[in-house]
Amino acid sequence: MKSIVIQQPGKLVIEERPLPAPGPGEVRVRVKRAGICGSDVHIFHGHNPFAKYPRTIGHEFFGHIDAVGEGVDISRTGERIVGDPVISCGHCYPCRIGKPNVCRELQVIGVHRDGGFSEYVTLPAQNAWCVPEGISDDEAAMVEPFTIAANICSQMSPAELDIALVYGAGPMGLTIIQALRGVYGVREIIVADKIDERLAMAKHNGADRIINNAHTDLSQQLAGVMPTLIIDAACHPAILPEAIALASPAGRIGILGFSDAPCTITQQAITSKELSLFSSRLNSRRFPMVIEWMKRRNIDALKLITHHYAFQDVMNAMDVFENNPKECCKVLLEF
Ligand code: NAI
Ligand code: MN
Ligand code: ZN
Repeated sequence: MKSIVIQQPGKLVIEERPLPAPGPGEVRVRVKRAGICGSDVHIFHGHNPFAKYPRTIGHEFFGHIDAVGEGVDISRTGERIVGDPVISCGHCYPCRIGKPNVCRELQVIGVHRDGGFSEYVTLPAQNAWCVPEGISDDEAAMVEPFTIAANICSQMSPAELDIALVYGAGPMGLTIIQALRGVYGVREIIVADKIDERLAMAKHNGADRIINNAHTDLSQQLAGVMPTLIIDAACHPAILPEAIALASPAGRIGILGFSDAPCTITQQAITSKELSLFSSRLNSRRFPMVIEWMKRRNIDALKLITHHYAFQDVMNAMDVFENNPKECCKVLLEF
């Protein structure tokens, strides 16, 4: 089989590898579609501290089961599935309280073990979620990115009274905007980004108001509007202090970033308004939730997909994804 392998930082090769056999409790999937994510690019450049090389990347993948391992129901063969990249131990504290996404022995497919940028991938059977026929192959490849939105929104409980502010109109911001609009029905969605083309995508995906904060301060442009729910999907360290200052009393702030740069916040700014802070990493078994959103047409994942490439053309695909944010949002590889 052919696999897209980062042999070492900066070196991507399409390798011929032996077909893997599914282990006990695992399935093997013939991959059809896989989405490129910022974290794939980070592993390529050697900027992901968890990645070990060589590594087949890719954690957003769709395909069908073509073989099952010991203990897995043979009738699952042929099932259309999307892969949950979160592999957890099942018995540590976070696993026991329903947060396998921060398992103490967390293994992420495409990061800690070989991923979905490959003609075939193996994964635990319980990580392979069945996709109904009404959901297309392209949409199915988008379930994983929407689980990021599902995970943070499930924690923050957006509601009708909320005035939401979303920082960043990249793929992550757009999935969150779609969820806030189509699933939670918040009162207003304001989106800030520094790129006009990205803001146009935000509008197309359900934003009510867009603000370019490249040159003018966001607080000035909000002119006294106090968002009640703020999600940082841009993840610059300067955003959290700003969000704390902008938030309504009793507001909630959610962060998704992994920057290790410090930022300055004060207890007074948080406590005087009794703000709640949330953070969210990957997803805690949110696949059924997102598949349901797709079935009910609460979200339209196809709106995010701007490019398709054959997997053999992965270098061009990664290049467009990384260097053309004005035109490119989500890129799918076809296997
Ligand atoms: P992206 O880089 O495509 O999008 C970020 C957007 O934010 C860009 O459009 C950029 O112009 C904008 N931006 C940057 N600084 C800004 C600022 N100060 N104010 C307003 N807008 C600003 O990235 P993508 O794929 O949408 O991911 C966003 C972030 O989410 C990344 O930092 C990524 O690491 C993080 N992430 C976190 C996950 C989690 O589970 N916690 C999962 C996936 C992504
Ligand atoms: Mn991703
Ligand atoms: Zn665990």
